[in-house]
Amino acid sequence: MGTLRTLDDVSPAGRRVLLRLDLNVPIDGGRVTGSERIARSLATVHELADTGARTIIIAHLGRPGGRPDPSMSLAPVAEAVADALGRPVAFATDTIGDNAADIIASTRPGDVVVLENLRFHPGEEADDRDFARALGALGDIYVNDAFSVSHRAHASVTSLARLLPSCAGRLMEEEVNAIARALSHPVRPIAAVVGGAKVSTKLAILDHLSHWADHLVVGGAMANTFLAAQGTGIGASLHEGDMTGTAVRIMKSARARGRAIHLPVDVVVEKDGQPVSCDLDAIGLEARILDIGPLTVRSVSRLIEGCRTVVWNGPMGMFEREGFDRGTVDLARTIADLTRSGSIFSVAGGGDTAAALTRAGATDGFSYVSTAGGAFLQWLEGTPLPGLVALEAA
Ligand code: 3PG
Repeated sequence: MGTLRTLDDVSPAGRRVLLRLDLNVPIDGGRVTGSERIARSLATVHELADTGARTIIIAHLGRPGGRPDPSMSLAPVAEAVADALGRPVAFATDTIGDNAADIIASTRPGDVVVLENLRFHPGEEADDRDFARALGALGDIYVNDAFSVSHRAHASVTSLARLLPSCAGRLMEEEVNAIARALSHPVRPIAAVVGGAKVSTKLAILDHLSHWADHLVVGGAMANTFLAAQGTGIGASLHEGDMTGTAVRIMKSARARGRAIHLPVDVVVEKDGQPVSCDLDAIGLEARILDIGPLTVRSVSRLIEGCRTVVWNGPMGMFEREGFDRGTVDLARTIADLTRSGSIFSVAGGGDTAAALTRAGATDGFSYVSTAGGAFLQWLEGTPLPGLVALEAA
């Protein structure tokens, strides 16, 4: 990681600031149903408005495929932003058209505007030069506060950083500092805890982490594939039969580098709809593994006690179902406790992870929980994020 310019390095007062946020929030029936990303974006908007900038928020919602789709309009999101900010927010019904230009021209220092969904234009995802120039013409400074979109080489993420004086917003700064501390300058020993359903979707991550981390703990349904690969009977459990060879390769190559991969030593299966703990050699032919077992939780907890850095992605079991959430919940609480006591630095992110930690009531205990899904995963893979690369080069 290079050095990021921040809001401390620019003078936004009176200037038009194009602020890229990730406002890709869940919407149901035209109403925002999850406002975590909005809440985490507020610090930068307040700071810009308070210093007298004219803040022009640019963002995407969903994947409309380069054409307008009213169900993915940012209008309800702009309202939610206004409510959360406690300030009026103007909404432009287009992104680079006359309405946007007129609204921006009429802004005064401290005003906040949200422009319509960037992805209504094909030029956004294609990182088209003309689209980027048209966007760039709307502002004097570019502030990127959308870490969770930095894995996309899109016009508003990469090209704007080259066209305008640029810096990171406060959330971006926070995300990058916390994740870099865990992933780029970690204190060893490191435990990486990875769960989720499929080996195939996390292959690059498993490959990278099995070399980088001192201990890789595999949970979730993907652990079933690893267990099957080492000859354990897993009954009727979800797994990827065609990935067992890959699992063997990952285990061998980790061992050759002196790294350890930890699989469940016991599991929780479903019996008549109820959770039942069971040893690996007692998994019935009809049984479905839905969580890691209590012995596994204990041994992974002891392992983590001996580590200094913990990185977590993905639940250990079917945490949405009561009785099958113990592995995820207990492990999350152990990590939160060890973090609070100062013995480890812990970072979590990606996909269902934040929801799982919320269910465990452990979010506040972690050193950092990222707002990012795909971007966090790409960093875990060890692949550079185009948005950060562009910002650092700016
Ligand atoms: C996310 O929700 O992870 C980001 O907003 C990126 O969205 P995308 O996967 O549609 O690019």
